[in-house]
Amino acid sequence: MGKIRVGIIGAGVWGKTHAFLYREHSGVEVVAVCDMDKSKADAFAREFSIPMSFGSHSQMISECALDAVSIVTPDFAHAQAACDCANAGLDMLIEKPLATTYDDVERIVEAVRKNKVRVMVDLHNRWSPPFAIAKQSLDEGELGEPRSAYFRLNDQMWVATDMLSWSAKSSILWFLGSHAVDTVRWFFNDEVESVFAVSSEGVLRSKGIDTEDIFQSILKFRKGGIATLENGWITPNSSPCVNDIKFNITGDKGMINLDLSNSQMIERFTDKKSDRPDVLVQHFIHGKAKGFAYESIRHFIDNLVSGEEFLVSLEDAANVSFVILAIMESAKTGEPVKVCHV
Ligand SMILES: NC(=O)c1ccc[n+]([C@@H]2O[C@H](COP(=O)([O-])OP(=O)(O)OC[C@H]3O[C@@H](n4cnc5c(N)ncnc54)[C@H](O)[C@@H]3O)[C@@H](O)[C@H]2O)c1
Repeated sequence: MGKIRVGIIGAGVWGKTHAFLYREHSGVEVVAVCDMDKSKADAFAREFSIPMSFGSHSQMISECALDAVSIVTPDFAHAQAACDCANAGLDMLIEKPLATTYDDVERIVEAVRKNKVRVMVDLHNRWSPPFAIAKQSLDEGELGEPRSAYFRLNDQMWVATDMLSWSAKSSILWFLGSHAVDTVRWFFNDEVESVFAVSSEGVLRSKGIDTEDIFQSILKFRKGGIATLENGWITPNSSPCVNDIKFNITGDKGMINLDLSNSQMIERFTDKKSDRPDVLVQHFIHGKAKGFAYESIRHFIDNLVSGEEFLVSLEDAANVSFVILAIMESAKTGEPVKVCHV
């Protein structure tokens, strides 16, 4: 089998994460990149030595003989590209979340099923070593039946104010809540039946970013498990790590705690700052891309080649979006909300 011919849709920050991994993977050739801002696609193509660049995904699809695409546009802009690529028979790695409305989720699922293409959504927390080891322990029976989980997954404020130009058109629920919901669904191996959530706002709005600051959500699973999630975008920028991460899973025979926001494996102090650099998510070691943010992308290509199932199914990703839509509704109405499923 020849190399998989990939096109990247969205030449932004996270598009580069995909490009760095593809550049190293012997099974892939990135033949084109597109961005609605053609100058960004051109610069990206130059940086990664990609032969072709386009100003729209439709043009890229029609002019390049692609096998697969990475969809790395903002959260609310995944659906049209995903449907067009499915209709063109292309396999897809779609950045999380799959989509942000009921209609968009449903039309992607329909297009994927109709065209029998393969899709993975990049819910990469499943590749984070501490979470993967905790899940293994649960699967091996060491914790017994899972009964409750707690997951605090927050971002420093600059992610909303400086990093993402489109944070006001999204939500911390789409940005990090999607990872949190996926993780607890994966641990409980069950569907969320209903949610109750509250939110707080005002800090980001006072800075001109029209979105909620923080959500706290309670999820009730079909088999009786319960989970509490916290997802916020207002952690102070001076905290030691971009993410504030605490996790607990409690079963009837044991429990596991994770605290990933305060690794003291590396502490760096200079005359300008002190921090604890990331050693888990993404970094370069001896020039090679390392960390779980790259492992999920590697898995997509490895399993496209081998034909094995992806660790994250289309249904997983669709149901994560449905849980988040229910959380949003509950926070707005103050009422518990039943969750839809595909
Ligand atoms: N897995 C993770 O943890 C993780 C981390 C960061 C970002 N992401 C996800 O990656 C996606 C992109 O985020 P980002 O930080 O790279 O954003 P970004 O703003 O840096 O880049 C997005 C790019 O998409 C382009 N774009 C917008 N609409 C388009 C369209 N219809 N067609 C083609 N190009 C279009 C924009 O011009 C921009 O260059 C988001 O869904 C985000 O949630 C995931």
